[in-house]
Amino acid sequence: MSFHAVVIEQTVEKGRIREHRAEVRELEDAWLSASDDTDAGTDDGTDAGTDAGTVALDVTYSGLNYKDALAIAGRPGVARTSPLIPGIDVVGRVAESQDARWQPGDRVLLNGAGLGESRHGGLAERAIVPGDRLVRVPDGLSDRQAAAIGTAGFTAMLSVLALERGDLTPEQGPVVVTGAAGGVGSVAIAVLAKLGFHVVASSGRAESEGDYLRGLGAAEVIDRRELSEPGPALQKRRWAGALDAVGGTTLANLLAQTQDFGTVTACGLAGGSELPTTVMPFILRGVTLAGINSVEQPLAAREEAWARLASDLDPALLDGMTTEITLAEVFETADRLLAGGVRGRTVVRAA
Ligand SMILES: NC(=O)c1ccc[n+]([C@@H]2O[C@H](COP(=O)([O-])OP(=O)(O)OC[C@H]3O[C@@H](n4cnc5c(N)ncnc54)[C@H](OP(=O)(O)O)[C@@H]3O)[C@@H](O)[C@H]2O)c1
Repeated sequence: MSFHAVVIEQTVEKGRIREHRAEVRELEDAWLSASDDTDAGTDDGTDAGTDAGTVALDVTYSGLNYKDALAIAGRPGVARTSPLIPGIDVVGRVAESQDARWQPGDRVLLNGAGLGESRHGGLAERAIVPGDRLVRVPDGLSDRQAAAIGTAGFTAMLSVLALERGDLTPEQGPVVVTGAAGGVGSVAIAVLAKLGFHVVASSGRAESEGDYLRGLGAAEVIDRRELSEPGPALQKRRWAGALDAVGGTTLANLLAQTQDFGTVTACGLAGGSELPTTVMPFILRGVTLAGINSVEQPLAAREEAWARLASDLDPALLDGMTTEITLAEVFETADRLLAGGVRGRTVVRAA
């Protein structure tokens, strides 16, 4: 059988991408199995794909994440093999399974686990994925909603869980969310507001997206420039906790402005990968910096986060932050996403 997929083909010399093409192609199923690198591996040295068997999916939806946009635009660091079908998220129905846990017809999702990086990802009508990482789509969520949550929403929930592990409660004071109008930020605001937190949304689009952010539950919206100017390592205590998708000076300022024993989560680098700070917030205020990695989460953590997303994210708010596009539309949308011009979440309909 044939299917459509976005395919990236590129050559890399000395860590630099020399030639890069990204386009929709019609492929045969055999191409997927033959060129699939089911050997993403994990940081703990285990083999993610081959042990437990693979599962073939009829994809219903994928999503467009920041990482996907980087790969599609030919920026380095995401696509680790060529040719590659990008897409770090996939939602679909099991078509064939080499894993006893999964049967044809099961509704499943997968985020990360090497998809769209070291093995073919979700921006296609068909996918072959490792059975041992799959999560059943929670009851009450449609395939489209599961894709709308995607890696961004999953990461937002992992960040919320990290804040909770830091014993953060609404009574302690405001929580700030950076990169607020993006995918991670939008889901984080909706979840934290539903949990009763006073959420402060920090955005470069405070004026144009202010109503949108307040509609998600933000109690206040601030201009991101308030957090992006270099400052001392210890500043006035403003936040009980912080959820950061931006990195760089913004993250340094969040650490400097967080109350004693508060937690700051770091998942992103939309504003930079450096961290210009000192040990002072940690040793004088007991601030915790919690790193968030959505790619290599163990299955139990994936299931916990997805169960919480099903219960703590208002589906109407999720639908309101979602834009749907086709495979052919991912190229233009990827450019706009990298330019910071996409609001909320983008789902990609497979067929
Ligand atoms: N660690 C992980 O496992 C993981 C998982 C998912 C995502 N991430 C990372 O998290 C970040 C956010 O992902 P996303 O899916 O939410 O992306 P997104 O939808 O593109 O949103 C990113 C947001 O960051 C803000 N932003 C963009 N450029 C900026 C700049 N130069 N300075 C300050 N803020 C800027 C914008 O928000 P405003 O317009 O509101 O300012 C933008 O909407 C990305 O860096 C992504 O790679 C990491």
